[in-house]
Amino acid sequence: MDGNGRWAKSRGLPRTEGHRAGEDALFDVLEGALDIGLKWMSVYAFSTENWRRPGDEVRFLIGFNEDILLRRRDELHERDVRIRFVGRRDRRVPKRLIKNMDDAIELTKNNKAMTLTVAFNYGGRSEIVDAVRTLVADKVPAERISARSIASRLYDPQMPDPDLMIRTSGESRTSNFLLWQLAYSELYFTDVAWPDFRREHLYQAIAAYQERERRFGGVGE
Ligand code: IPE
Ligand code: MG
Repeated sequence: MDGNGRWAKSRGLPRTEGHRAGEDALFDVLEGALDIGLKWMSVYAFSTENWRRPGDEVRFLIGFNEDILLRRRDELHERDVRIRFVGRRDRRVPKRLIKNMDDAIELTKNNKAMTLTVAFNYGGRSEIVDAVRTLVADKVPAERISARSIASRLYDPQMPDPDLMIRTSGESRTSNFLLWQLAYSELYFTDVAWPDFRREHLYQAIAAYQERERRFGGVGE
């Protein structure tokens, strides 16, 4: 969900107003995704690198994410959305936020329409590092280390590898998002800034995806 700061700046607004405007984008995309029966959607809310931002913006982002979670979790629950989080639960993440995340996970754990995974304090490299730490802690012998044993120790082992990754706002990078899981995902880049992104843009991205030929290293048809 990129481009909030530039969106705000181009309107003479503080960056935080761009983040605020991103909430409408997220919920419109979510409704659009539910309408077409998308079962899994993951959003990058806060990265392990975002701590480098000015303190005020970091505090805003943490508070705003918590605020959205509290204001909208019942609505998500009514929409039959299962909420999950991926990311590092280190000391920098306020305890109260972790409690609110756990409450939302618990509240929605049996929901079936869609799984919404929120990547918070998430970094793809950290995720792989943490998986390797678990392998070592579990005393897994070298010959038993495999793609499968690593994948089973990622933050949410049940999450399927994404078919499609969308990045907004004209940047052509994955920026440490789902590093392991994106190995064979189709990547889609759009100039639309996140606060302007709506379900129609999601559908355009999916239409583009449908034109792709996925070969997974094979030779196709
Ligand atoms: C994305 O918008 C939101 C987060 C990373 C939390 P940005 O804040 O990165 O917006 P730009 O890239 O500066 O425009
Ligand atoms: Mg950005």
